[in-house]
Amino acid sequence: MNYCGVVLAGGKGTRLGELTRVVNKHLLPVGDEPMVYHPLRKLVGAGVRDILLVSGPESLGDFIRQLGSGKALGCSLTYRAQDEPGGIAQALGLAESYCGDRPCAVLLGDNVFHDALGPLLQRTIQNSDHAWIALKQVHDPSRYGIAELQGHRIVALEEKPREPRSDLAIAGIYVFPPEVFALIRQAKPSARGEWEITDINRAFLEQGRLQHVFLEGYWTDAGTPESLDLAKQLVKSTPPLF
Ligand code: G1P
Repeated sequence: MNYCGVVLAGGKGTRLGELTRVVNKHLLPVGDEPMVYHPLRKLVGAGVRDILLVSGPESLGDFIRQLGSGKALGCSLTYRAQDEPGGIAQALGLAESYCGDRPCAVLLGDNVFHDALGPLLQRTIQNSDHAWIALKQVHDPSRYGIAELQGHRIVALEEKPREPRSDLAIAGIYVFPPEVFALIRQAKPSARGEWEITDINRAFLEQGRLQHVFLEGYWTDAGTPESLDLAKQLVKSTPPLF
């Protein structure tokens, strides 16, 4: 399957306070490399070589200085600016012409996880016209998008619920067929003024076209001081599989 890769590395990183006054969150170190190397190495390790990186115009120059063409990492990088931070779905919408008729493997640039991406991508091939999400049990579900399951079936998705009905977080690892872009164009911003990826996944769910995998190893985002520390510890004690 000829996947294109999309790494979303936008946002203001406000939850990291002074750490991100000048430096984009995804350029902060996790292990001995900037955080953004993690999703890039995951994609390259899974055989995805064409990768689009989306970030704000104030940071793109730094990414280009850091990563260049992508050659050193074994990929071919293209960059696209998200003029204002308007959410993950809006950022993904900018990948439409880049992806064309290819399915896309989308990674949030601040997600750090142990599982190799290759076997997860292999699973999606069996239903490549469906959307795929990755789930992981967490102890603080109200920080994330949450999936409610009945048996093996997802029955509901909620973005950062105050009273979560499940502890299964939706990780920032998604695989979408090209129709995702039509759904993004029809979507409306949420109460917090962002185009939510959870709304897009819910649209696939309503069409009976949402599948999931469970992550076996650790997973965390790295967008708060505590989770950034955790990501560093996890990567140090158990290096992620690429
Ligand atoms: C985003 C998504 C959320 C997902 C999370 C994973 O939240 O909206 O559904 O669970 O990433 O890191 P954010 O923390 O970027 O607001």
